[in-house]
Amino acid sequence: MPLHSPTGHFSDAAQSAMAGNLAAHGWSQHNIFLPQELTLLLEAECRVLNASGALAAAGVGRGTAQTVRAGIRSDRIAWLAAGQSVACDRYLQIMEELRMSLNRSLFLGLHDYESHFAFYAPGAGYLKHLDRFRDDDCRTVSVVIYLNQDWRPADGGALRLHPEGKNTEDIAPLASRMVLFLSADMLHEVLPATRDRISLAGWFRRRAGITM
Ligand code: OGA
Ligand code: MN
Repeated sequence: MPLHSPTGHFSDAAQSAMAGNLAAHGWSQHNIFLPQELTLLLEAECRVLNASGALAAAGVGRGTAQTVRAGIRSDRIAWLAAGQSVACDRYLQIMEELRMSLNRSLFLGLHDYESHFAFYAPGAGYLKHLDRFRDDDCRTVSVVIYLNQDWRPADGGALRLHPEGKNTEDIAPLASRMVLFLSADMLHEVLPATRDRISLAGWFRRRAGITM
């Protein structure tokens, strides 16, 4: 069963597992987060964007300081906008419910969500990094949702988390799996894969100037 019902309600158990793991460990993993049919629609949409040349080389850094540095990061991305498709709107609605749920349980003051498709061609990766920018502390909770059907261990492409003072965790990018982690603290990297690796990455943000 996906974590939310067709009406979009997360079960109490799912909500407390997400919030509890995020607070206790700095990250949280949910294996069947999106319904299978929505996962397939989102994967297809990303492949169409890729085929039509709508994905752009991802940058490193923020605003005018942003540069494309393929040695650090070699995925291609497209930011989501409300209204671009029925599938994206369903996804954004689910994330809005997750935002409210995290605020209820963790008092994080998350006030919006930004998200992009990410397409890693074979061999592409993203070296160890933090998602929070040096000059902007709004990104608070990072989200990655994977859209890869029939992923096998030999395909590679794990998300490798580096929790401070603990062993690394390798998480395979299996379809409909979601990983949450604290943007300011969790070092992480994307290992290269031998096949296309498709995901939705996103960030719940606080208002500027609020410190925790
Ligand atoms: C990112 C990122 C992880 C992943 O986009 O910042 O770290 O598993 N993505 O795709
Ligand atoms: Mn990242």
